[in-house]
Amino acid sequence: MIPTIDWQDDHVVMIDQRKLPFKESYVVCKTPTQVVEAIRKMVIRGAPAIGVAAAMGLALGGRRIKTQNRATFERHFQRICEKMASARPTASNLFWAIDSMLEVLKEHPQASVEELKDLLRSKADHLLAEDQTINKAIGHHGQIVVPDGATVLTHCNAGALATAGYGTALGVVRAAWEVGKKIRVLADETRPFLQGSRLTAWELQQDNIPVTLITDSMAGYLMNKGKVQLIVVGADRVAANGDIANKIGTYSLAVLAKENKVPFYVAAPLSTVDLSVATGQDIPIEERDPREVTHSLGHAIAPPGVNAWNPAFDVTPNRFIAGIITEKGIARKPYGKSLRGMKKQSA
Ligand code: MRU
Repeated sequence: MIPTIDWQDDHVVMIDQRKLPFKESYVVCKTPTQVVEAIRKMVIRGAPAIGVAAAMGLALGGRRIKTQNRATFERHFQRICEKMASARPTASNLFWAIDSMLEVLKEHPQASVEELKDLLRSKADHLLAEDQTINKAIGHHGQIVVPDGATVLTHCNAGALATAGYGTALGVVRAAWEVGKKIRVLADETRPFLQGSRLTAWELQQDNIPVTLITDSMAGYLMNKGKVQLIVVGADRVAANGDIANKIGTYSLAVLAKENKVPFYVAAPLSTVDLSVATGQDIPIEERDPREVTHSLGHAIAPPGVNAWNPAFDVTPNRFIAGIITEKGIARKPYGKSLRGMKKQSA
């Protein structure tokens, strides 16, 4: 499996997801500002991967602060955290990772600046490694709901590329495949950024897991024809009541799944669950450059000057969700209670 993100000496290196599957190239970030830009421009994307990148970027930032004075260090570090938080608004994991890094400072009130720099690096290393372990656990719990012989539909890319490895929704697929279930994946192409066709199709091909690509608008027809037995998607943020924000188009899939009696599951680590947000209506939804809609892979696909709208995520109400697969097991309705219980377990 190609690593999404790693250290190269003291720099953060990430595979450039904008270029896949046509070119395997890497972006090396030497400053936290470069990590912020990489997240914003979607060199790296997917909620858990964004969280890990932010933590690594902050460790990088801490290392570069030139002072021996703890109070000055904290002031500078706080400013870097604020910049990092502005990278993208929807994925919970970004804010969760920043909080986890700030926690290091609180947990070590007596540490010197040099000690803090090492502690921040250790924390980022820990979050990087832990993400893979968590995804394997999500896969382990989730594969139980995958029927042998099923066609599993997924949207966007919630795979190894969207995490530090293995994936969440694709972690469930991988785990089902690893226990010997004969499954295949239908991948929505996921307009406008094409995470499905460029990333999910590529990633599954690399692992020899059967994958068939469809355009987003074909999903309803195929569900109606009985060609889909299960849907598993990732999430960028899960609200306290179990509503979820995920890639634009997820809501339409969930509604169509209900109409066609196809179980609709969400796979996400508990770091994506944000209990401070009561319902999905309170989740900030990113609006991206309309150029992503008027252009595809650098080519104009609309008349010059036409208006375009580009909300990057939508909200799926909890009533459409059969279960939320986490590293602690599958949360079921009422989600308020089950998610709170799991968060408590993982604290
Ligand atoms: O805009 P993106 O590519 O960052 O959106 C990604 C998604 O919507 C994923 O489904 C979500 O982050 C979960 S990734 C495990």
